[in-house]
Amino acid sequence: MLSAERILARCESLAQHSELAGGLTRVFLSPQARAATDKVLGWMREAGMQASLDAIGNAAARYEGERPGLPCLMLGSHLDTVRDAGKYDGMLGVISAIECVDFLNRQKRRLPFAIEVVGFGDEEGVRFGTTLLGSRAVAGTLDLSVLDARDPQGNSMADALRAFGLDPKRIPEIARKKGEVLAYAELHIEQGPVLEAEGLAVGVVTAINGFSRLRVTLRGAAGHAGTVPMHLRRDALAGAAECVLATEQVAKSDPELVGTVGRIEARPGAINVIPGEAMFTVDVRAPRDELRNAAISKIKSQIQQVSKQRNLTCEIESLQEFGVTACSPRLMAQMDQAVKRQGHRLRRLPSGAGHDGMALGAITDICMLFVRCKGGISHNPAESITEGDAAAGVQVLLDFIEHFALQR
Ligand code: GLV
Ligand code: MN
Ligand code: MN
Repeated sequence: MLSAERILARCESLAQHSELAGGLTRVFLSPQARAATDKVLGWMREAGMQASLDAIGNAAARYEGERPGLPCLMLGSHLDTVRDAGKYDGMLGVISAIECVDFLNRQKRRLPFAIEVVGFGDEEGVRFGTTLLGSRAVAGTLDLSVLDARDPQGNSMADALRAFGLDPKRIPEIARKKGEVLAYAELHIEQGPVLEAEGLAVGVVTAINGFSRLRVTLRGAAGHAGTVPMHLRRDALAGAAECVLATEQVAKSDPELVGTVGRIEARPGAINVIPGEAMFTVDVRAPRDELRNAAISKIKSQIQQVSKQRNLTCEIESLQEFGVTACSPRLMAQMDQAVKRQGHRLRRLPSGAGHDGMALGAITDICMLFVRCKGGISHNPAESITEGDAAAGVQVLLDFIEHFALQR
């Protein structure tokens, strides 16, 4: 029996591993990530899998097929969180996948392919400012210059890996070759309101929107808040405020675009000092790459214009970009069938959020199943799903796995 009750209890259990008392924040390679990952490895082993921590800190497990060494169907999602996160974003997919393997194992069933489950160590990119580190390492697309990236405390990623007990030089060894992975399937909460609005527990994802991320630093002159007249100031934060609104305007110019300034910092950061420096991030997403690229160009030119008008200097760094990732028509059709067999009305929908499948798309076909979440709320501690919807999700995932055997 698949147990949605156990799935939700395990999500609760992982949520105990947080750097934030009374909330959930668990970033890549933190002590809390280590504890959560070890717990997941234990559940993977209980489900009959060979499981170990890989070279980048993913929990990686394998359930052999009818004979050892067969190519695998890979299932997974991530174990890291945003700051002040919900308990299901990422974790639900990993735990539901383990539940499916546990079900097969208890029936002593082996399929004509292996199943691998991965709990990726980093999808959110909170610690080092660049996302999908765990899944890009598995896809073999991680540029190792990222090892020099630093977290806000100044620790490099290479040092963080060593502190976690890992050897950064071994990361290339976990890259999978094309052909070893038959497909990648990920169950994830929807993180939006569409399924709830239509009274549906699950939906099949068509594509994952692309994203571009910038870090912008404006520099003016710090000064005394009481003595410098307004017309003689070079206030970097006031300039940043104009850039935030310009970003919003550009994002509002097309219904398919979204744009967010999610972080802003003023330095030196005192009530009586004119901010001499301001740093902010920009995150732009769209279902079409041309639209996103045009929006990013417009935002950059507006930032330059604001800087010029206010006599500020500006530095714009491109942190990361990822094109739209389409789900495989062949796998979507198989997921559609699983949804219908389990008695749900079929609904296909795109994903506005990023997912590990974007990285895995470099080496294999991908597909995703969304599970309804309450109020469409995510990246928020109020994120919640019902036991009934968790059950619907895991049943469809198991059905997909069982029939993948027949249809490959
Ligand atoms: C990940 O959750 C993202 O879409 O930012
Ligand atoms: Mn997320
Ligand atoms: Mn996620």
